[in-house]
Amino acid sequence: MTASISPTLVRRIRSARHVTAFTGAGISAESGVPTFRGTDGIWVKFKPEELATMDAFMRNPELVWEWYVHRKKVIAEVRPNAGHEALVALERLCPHFAVITQNIDNLHRRAGSTTVYELHGNIERNYCMECGERVSNEAVLASSGVPQCPSCGGKVRPDVVWFGEMLPENEWEGAVRAARSSDVFFSIGTSAVVYPAASLPLMARESGAYLVEINPEPTPLTDHADEFLCGPAGEILPAIVRAVTGTRSTGASPIHSD
Ligand code: APR
Repeated sequence: MTASISPTLVRRIRSARHVTAFTGAGISAESGVPTFRGTDGIWVKFKPEELATMDAFMRNPELVWEWYVHRKKVIAEVRPNAGHEALVALERLCPHFAVITQNIDNLHRRAGSTTVYELHGNIERNYCMECGERVSNEAVLASSGVPQCPSCGGKVRPDVVWFGEMLPENEWEGAVRAARSSDVFFSIGTSAVVYPAASLPLMARESGAYLVEINPEPTPLTDHADEFLCGPAGEILPAIVRAVTGTRSTGASPIHSD
């Protein structure tokens, strides 16, 4: 493993009341979900302006749905990895723990994380653009072409945030609260270039959090971090849990309670 876990980080986590993990596509890479800007990244192969904007959807809803149906199938085939599972173990260790994710793959919830702020939506949800009715993934995957609302016949869209759209208010406000109250804030597997999400690690640091970045490559955030742990999340996060619990495995038991 490339990075070793510092005694400072272990001490900080053990004494922390609020710990937050901010995640991007990199944490799901080891599950087989492609990242966006990596060498084989989605935005290297496809144009976001043709697939992930309201204009693209209005212009060619068939193409956009074809792509989201493809992504739904890819994500349905994968499983949470050791990185997701280590965050569930950390949640059990800390009095207050939150995950703030840019990912739409639902893998944090599938791993068992309970407090998850989904800034960019969730690919397993869909809704009607006319009446707002929620439409199940089964119904969407069973339909061909552009799915229609069973109630009003309106166009159905995936419940994800497209470029140029506002983030869901409750999720954003929850994320800001978690960032500002963090004693330790992890930024994991994100290139930290997409705003407003990328402002959260800096917000946490300005509020006094110990900022730790986990990524195999440096990002624009690296110079602002108190620690940069260079390597894959699926290796580094379990190592952090082992170091904090002083165990060889991640079968973590609570260190302290309220
Ligand atoms: N562990 C940790 N980090 C990794 C791993 C890994 N195994 N593999 C890759 N990474 C890092 C890459 O080095 C890169 O910095 O994950 C980052 C992924 O960056 P992006 O592909 O830009 O993904 P992300 O930061 O999540 O993108 C933000 O942009 O396209 C929009 O809405 C989309 O939520 C997405 C947002």
